[in-house]
Amino acid sequence: MMSTAASEPSSSPLRAVVIGGSGQLGCWLLWTLAQRGHSASGTYASVQFPGLVRLDAGELQPAADWITEQAADVIFYPAGFTWVDGCERDRSLAYAANLEQPLNLARAAAKVGARFVYFSTDYVFDGEAGPYTEESATNPLSVYGRAKRDAELALERELGAKQLTIRTSWVFGPERQGKNFAYQLLRNLAEKKPMVCPSDQVSNPSYGPDVARAAVLLAEERASGLIHVVGPEVIDRVQFARAIAGAFGHDDGLIVGKSTAELGQGAPRPLNGGLKTPRLDAAHQGIMRPLAAALGNFREALLDPELGSWVQPVAGFPVNLPRHEGARPSAGV
Ligand SMILES: NC(=O)c1ccc[n+]([C@@H]2O[C@H](COP(=O)([O-])OP(=O)(O)OC[C@H]3O[C@@H](n4cnc5c(N)ncnc54)[C@H](OP(=O)(O)O)[C@@H]3O)[C@@H](O)[C@H]2O)c1
Repeated sequence: MMSTAASEPSSSPLRAVVIGGSGQLGCWLLWTLAQRGHSASGTYASVQFPGLVRLDAGELQPAADWITEQAADVIFYPAGFTWVDGCERDRSLAYAANLEQPLNLARAAAKVGARFVYFSTDYVFDGEAGPYTEESATNPLSVYGRAKRDAELALERELGAKQLTIRTSWVFGPERQGKNFAYQLLRNLAEKKPMVCPSDQVSNPSYGPDVARAAVLLAEERASGLIHVVGPEVIDRVQFARAIAGAFGHDDGLIVGKSTAELGQGAPRPLNGGLKTPRLDAAHQGIMRPLAAALGNFREALLDPELGSWVQPVAGFPVNLPRHEGARPSAGV
């Protein structure tokens, strides 16, 4: 299970809302909040899970009214239009979902005195000279990156010390929808299909449950402004893919590295991207596990009966590999 202090109750319980509770980070925010003794309501837009309330942030007035009714202390917003190439094709949806809709709910939150936690990305940088600190100048290359950067600035301007923006990158790990890069890779490898990855894009793999835990602790501390929350290693996608394959007992021969120029992705990507974490390190040194430990915990989470309904199984696991030493025994696997 999540071998962290996430399960220690907080001394002052919060009333929280998670917009996008059906998503990768949203699910671990809800889990961590519950473990720490906070009360939380989570929402979904199109993929329903038990206990979540349907909310479409694009329905501006009803969504704002719902936020007001919640009388929450803190609103987490791990939502939006996160498909980078899709944002390049549909600029107006990219700006609506990543800037206008969260700003609308942030304004509603401010009216009832709630804090607002927004999630951004290292795609606000151009990747000429990463990894970047919170002080580095932004220069997004893509529509997604520009919408996120503009949202950061608008939230800062309008909410000041009531807002926290967490920039993260390459989030992976167990999740309810099974959509992240690790799941895509492991599905391909289980089916003996090649996985083509950019060999020249560099960033920090970031373990989703750790990002969520850091976000909850920072919210408890009323942190504000901009904070980078990413894993400690800055590596390229092929190295990342090989590490995942190895941890799940797959041969990495089907992982094919290609340059970004060869791949022709729809949106431009920062190449030498990635984030440094001086603010996080000052407050919570070591909170983000190294990649190897995170992958070990990912495997344990898949075998943990307590997490069963929070985690999409991984294709082929655990049938095709020896049981991980650290995994807890579990009925039915
Ligand atoms: N994943 C990464 O590697 C990464 C890297 C950097 C930054 N981030 C940022 O971190 C945040 C969370 O990422 P994630 O990977 O957890 O995202 P995700 O898994 O794609 O989840 C997105 C969530 O947003 C919800 N949503 C979509 N449209 C909505 C709408 N109109 N109204 C309300 N909710 C809506 C989705 O609901 P349904 O699924 O129910 O439709 C889902 O719960 C995002 O803001 C993303 O930009 C992520």
